[in-house]
Amino acid sequence: MPNLNQLPKQVKIIEVGVRDGLQNESTLVPTEVKVELIKKLVVSGLSVIEATSFVSPKWVPQLADQNEVMQQLVGLDDAMTHRVRFPVLTPNLKGFENAIAAGAKEVAVFAAASESFSQKNINCSIEQSIERFDPIFKRAKELNIPVRGYVSCVLGCPYEGDISAEKVALVAEKLYQYGSYEISLGDTIGVGTPGKTKALLERVAKVVPIEKLAVHFHDTYGQALANIYAALQMGLTNIDSSVAGLGGCPYAKGASGNVATEDVVYLLNGLAITSDIDLDKLVDAGDYISKFLNKENGSKVARAILSNRKNSNRKNSNKKNSNRKNQELIF
Ligand code: HMG
Ligand code: MG
Repeated sequence: MPNLNQLPKQVKIIEVGVRDGLQNESTLVPTEVKVELIKKLVVSGLSVIEATSFVSPKWVPQLADQNEVMQQLVGLDDAMTHRVRFPVLTPNLKGFENAIAAGAKEVAVFAAASESFSQKNINCSIEQSIERFDPIFKRAKELNIPVRGYVSCVLGCPYEGDISAEKVALVAEKLYQYGSYEISLGDTIGVGTPGKTKALLERVAKVVPIEKLAVHFHDTYGQALANIYAALQMGLTNIDSSVAGLGGCPYAKGASGNVATEDVVYLLNGLAITSDIDLDKLVDAGDYISKFLNKENGSKVARAILSNRKNSNRKNSNKKNSNRKNQELIF
């Protein structure tokens, strides 16, 4: 039995559903729906919600409305959003400048530990991608904009197969030295296992402190929650997840959805780890977008809660009906 006292007391969840979740959807989601989803996520208590990406609309048509999304977010009531950060993805200086002009206050750059994936995803080598990020880091420093760094394919690549922890550590260290305040390790195609996760974190934590690391698990092989538990046991406190388990990368064949935020919150609640998230309200957000996309909710926890709600509504209405009948009998 593991010692639960050794687990972190508090965890930060980085909600990536609106960006990672929707970027992979072929049905174009209107800006209003994206903003409504963001509002529901805010209401659930999430404090970091990736809003969109400032990438080429030719590469990711779903996020071509990035300016409109930001415009509507900036227009939201301060009382609602003052405690929430809305980072956006920026692949190059053009994306960064566009993001800042649209009102972004935080950005994320994304590199990979696999050369082939880097080429497919951002059309350049790993080294070229880091060179492209250099001006972003410089400009961000001038403007006091925090930059998050992603490393993709940390536990496997759709084109190259296994990826060594050594390679991941090299890229993570560079992004950290450039000035990323946090490095998110992306299991882009969801092939990781708890053993591999531990080995990876052990290696990367030698060059980036564990408290500056985040994990980002897609759940293709159903190992994401187990991997997160392994990461928590190692003291990791930053978890990326996606409402209703949406997600995938258009340039990583076979990448399924991210681990569902609802499932992560349920896990954390069961371990008495604080996340400050209202699970019921989060389930409402996931239900909203799943219904809009007309697809099954990817969160098992959400499906169970929604089914319980339906059953108890049915019981309540049966009770009301029988009370009414009893009253009719009395009178
Ligand atoms: P490129 O074609 O090599 O770019 O794309 P380029 O510099 O040669 O420019 C070509 C055209 O794109 C030009 O326009 C540029 O102005 C324009 P044209 O003259 O032809 O009209 N352009 C841009 N437009 C808007 N915003 C920009 C931008 N940059 C250039 N920022 C590029 C290179 C990086 C732009 C492209 O490959 C791209 O947008 N890729 C993004 C792919 C993507 O978003 N993937 C998903 C996110 S990563 C992910 O999901 C993984 C993650 O979740 C972690 C994990 O799971 O592992 C983070
Ligand atoms: Mg991802």
